[in-house]
Amino acid sequence: MLNKDCLTYAGNLVSLKIIAAQCNYKFVQANICGRMVLDYHIVRFKPDAIIQLAVDSHVDRSIFASEKFMQTNIIGTYTLLESTRAYWSTLSSFAHNSFRFLHGSTDEVYGSLSEKGLFREDTTHNPSSPYSSSKAVPDHIVMAWHRTYGLPTLITNCSNNYGLYQFP
Ligand SMILES: NC(=O)c1ccc[n+]([C@@H]2O[C@H](COP(=O)([O-])OP(=O)(O)OC[C@H]3O[C@@H](n4cnc5c(N)ncnc54)[C@H](O)[C@@H]3O)[C@@H](O)[C@H]2O)c1
Repeated sequence: MLNKDCLTYAGNLVSLKIIAAQCNYKFVQANICGRMVLDYHIVRFKPDAIIQLAVDSHVDRSIFASEKFMQTNIIGTYTLLESTRAYWSTLSSFAHNSFRFLHGSTDEVYGSLSEKGLFREDTTHNPSSPYSSSKAVPDHIVMAWHRTYGLPTLITNCSNNYGLYQFP
């Protein structure tokens, strides 16, 4: 596994100590908005799959300063997607067919629920904050890259979760 993270306030290498010593794990400090660096590492590492989890997160933070959210969540995902597509297009038939790009999105793209109700995968997007809008746009970009270029993509829209190693 190659873990690329630019280490914002939310990134913490101490949380990765448990896997850092594994021989099949490598960490690179890099920003997903930087195309040349992404290309360099992806081509060298030759991944079977790419998981996009880099994010600028939290509704309140996005209301006070939205620009980084647009950069990381929209431009960053787009840049990683294009770097991925360039790499994927060079793969041999088997690797090309089995490759996957998983985009970690959020249920916030669907907006708010009242006390009752639920979201489904086909619920219409109804973002209501700078954060949720910056997460809704890449969902559409990822779907478009699948439809237009055939890139094998998956999107998850999970609700809030927490656990060990999470930024407090
Ligand atoms: N945690 C939740 O409850 C939750 C709920 C729904 C969806 N999600 C989604 O899951 C994904 C991961 O969320 P999380 O809670 O782990 O986020 P987090 O904020 O805890 O971690 C984000 C990581 O991304 C890195 N990062 C930020 N900008 C970057 C950039 N430009 N380039 C490279 N790395 C960068 C940070 O350093 C950090 O390590 C996100 O897509 C988020 O929208 C999380």
